Amino acid sequence: MHTMRAVVLHRTGGLKHLKLEEVPVPAPGAGEVLVRLKAAALNHRDVWIVQGRYANIQLPVILGSDGAGIVEQVGPGVDAALVGKAILINPSLNWGSNPRAQGKAYRILGMPDPGTHAEYIVVPAGQVVEKPDYLSFEEGAAIPLGGLTGYRALFTQGRLTAGETVLLTGIGGGVAALMFTMALAAGARVVVTSGSDEKLKRAVDAGAFGGANYRDPNWVDTLQRLTAPRGIDLIVDSAGGDHFSSLINLVNPGGRIVFFGATAGNPQRLDLRRIFWKQITLQGTTMGTEQDFYEMIRLFELHQIKPLVDRIFPIEAYPSAYQRMFNGEQFGKIVLTMGNT
Ligand SMILES: NC(=O)c1ccc[n+]([C@@H]2O[C@H](COP(=O)([O-])OP(=O)(O)OC[C@H]3O[C@@H](n4cnc5c(N)ncnc54)[C@H](OP(=O)(O)O)[C@@H]3O)[C@@H](O)[C@H]2O)c1
Repeated sequence: MHTMRAVVLHRTGGLKHLKLEEVPVPAPGAGEVLVRLKAAALNHRDVWIVQGRYANIQLPVILGSDGAGIVEQVGPGVDAALVGKAILINPSLNWGSNPRAQGKAYRILGMPDPGTHAEYIVVPAGQVVEKPDYLSFEEGAAIPLGGLTGYRALFTQGRLTAGETVLLTGIGGGVAALMFTMALAAGARVVVTSGSDEKLKRAVDAGAFGGANYRDPNWVDTLQRLTAPRGIDLIVDSAGGDHFSSLINLVNPGGRIVFFGATAGNPQRLDLRRIFWKQITLQGTTMGTEQDFYEMIRLFELHQIKPLVDRIFPIEAYPSAYQRMFNGEQFGKIVLTMGNT
């Protein structure tokens, strides 16, 4: 029996329950492909699951939603021409027929289905797309989940157009850093927040118009002064918490706030009067459709966008990779490499 190395979570409650183990290499069934993974990436979802702070956790499980690799084998009914192709995996499974929202059977790759923090994975053939040549496997693996979520947030839901001003909160985050590169490529003026002055400086060096540190009590004033007189047309947030109500003050009348996370929890209060009087659209979003995924990859290819890769760890150094995300030290995506040729 062939085996592979995989990062397996047996119990929630802390990193000590993640183990690098030898497990059987899965076999592709009808309509599926076996992928030899070259690189994978971390998402905050993996951390929530390790902490036991995610809905319907089923264990044991191999975590990981982002992967890039080479198709090694195809199951019955799949075009054999896929074998040997370098691919990226779309982690959005079974979206359903309504483009406005996912159906009940929707799942994200990497719990309950075995994920990408492993040397091999089996996925439905429809979930793989060819890796753009200009991207390395590490860069490719940094894109899928965050790129998809960020693309839908910015464009499908947020309707961002060239020349508009967009505020991206918590720019060090994986999704935020991917949105940063996409929004700049689309010709938007991008302003950012971060809890780290060093990350703010890096964002400005990389093309941000400016930013403010959300730990500074004057961060809202700073952003208002910075963006006057045009103000902020769109805000994309995944932190939530009490800062969320300040976003209502910051956005232009008639503006949009799109959000897909609540890293800092729920806001204590929301000023409904201010929301309706300013005619603000509050729009929730999650991951994206197959169409969003293809459009996102097309945008990357069109502008030859390079995702911001924070740090690359070999799979055996997974505790350091996860710890870095636990600590919020990253700027961009944390990537694991499998070391298989
Ligand atoms: N619904 C969906 O489909 C979906 C998809 C992807 C992610 N998410 C959610 O979105 C969030 C981000 O995911 P990720 O993978 O990008 O996580 P990540 O890489 O761990 O990034 C989290 C970032 O949040 C920022 N942050 C923390 N507290 C903040 C605050 N009070 N105000 C502003 N920013 C704050 C930090 O930015 P700085 O380092 O710059 O301070 C941190 O780096 C998570 O809650 C995740 O579960 C949801």
